[in-house]
Amino acid sequence: MPKIPHHPGNSLIDSPPTIQWDTDHIKIIDQTLLPSALKVIELRSVSDVVDAIGRLAIRGAPAIGACGAYGIVVALDEGYAAGGSNSTIAAKDILAKAAHLIGNTRPTAVNLAWAVERVQTGAMLGTSPEEVRSLALSIANDIFDEDRAACDAIGTFGAVELAEHKTILTHCNAGRLATAGIGTALGVIYGKAREGQEVEVFSSETRPLLQGARLTAWELSMAEIPVTVFPDSAGSSLLASGRIDAVIVGSDRIAANGDIANKIGTLSHALAARAASVPFYVAAPTSTLDPHTATGAEIEIEQRIPEEVEGFGDCRSTPVGVAVWNPAFDITPADLVTAIITEVGVLRPDYGKSIANALELASLANPPTPEEQQ
Ligand code: MRU
Repeated sequence: MPKIPHHPGNSLIDSPPTIQWDTDHIKIIDQTLLPSALKVIELRSVSDVVDAIGRLAIRGAPAIGACGAYGIVVALDEGYAAGGSNSTIAAKDILAKAAHLIGNTRPTAVNLAWAVERVQTGAMLGTSPEEVRSLALSIANDIFDEDRAACDAIGTFGAVELAEHKTILTHCNAGRLATAGIGTALGVIYGKAREGQEVEVFSSETRPLLQGARLTAWELSMAEIPVTVFPDSAGSSLLASGRIDAVIVGSDRIAANGDIANKIGTLSHALAARAASVPFYVAAPTSTLDPHTATGAEIEIEQRIPEEVEGFGDCRSTPVGVAVWNPAFDITPADLVTAIITEVGVLRPDYGKSIANALELASLANPPTPEEQQ
């Protein structure tokens, strides 16, 4: 029976949490080192937080949302230690500057901007520097706890939705390493395993930074779930071969019409899945739904440095002087998406309507649990 990472704690047996608040600093697994080394690093300043998010030491939309939220508390502590604790105005100035800096570290994942803005808005109500800090920490804790609960619910809904699908293709890493909980796309895999369903995963390696080969393969093998890695370029022939029952991926931002931003290469899998009549699912918490962005065409796609493509480790693979195009994400049009699995239920086309309904449900003080909905 596979080991299922879930409450209490968000860790697999023998593995520290992906992200954790500890008194006055953030602890994260440095994901750039996996799977060769499992190292926890501490983020004790705004520049530590910005650097960790920017170099993908922590990555995945919900995880960087939680990190950004706690990053505001780190910024307040840092600013207060430097003399900014004398007045509420100074505290709010630190808050606003940190929110701007951290919130803009990566542009595509809406969870980061959403989390930072939520902390900023709530903490701005503080009437003393101490209250500003305690509000910021309590909202960051809420974001963390809500994400864990959302992942669990996504796992429960997903296990029902994909009950007949055993062999699943996924892209990038939308697992426990990408969230505060058990993950979104991989949350569904863990949800299936939790229900005793047979499941095996094909993970694309996910060039250029290999989140699939390094991270998805690592966490699934730690959980004793069978996983096979394939090169991204093999995805369409794998789908055409008839071996895959369903595709499931996470998302960095879902536009109001259901267009999906996710790791570069997702669109190729969606197109190949459609050609092979394989269902294509997206799993995401409602914090990834962006009602302010009408369609995928409006989503800013993060461009990353050429060095990520130019070589492998110390070994250069492209001739010096050759141009590199390195977008981190692509947009999968809503009409290629079979359903979106969220913590408030499974959304189906017309996504304009189902996304608006989901956001309304999520805003309720006590949204219905998966058990209540089934
Ligand atoms: O660049 P990354 O590794 O942060 O990209 C991550 C993804 O694309 C994930 O699929 C997405 O953030 C969802 S994580 C639950």
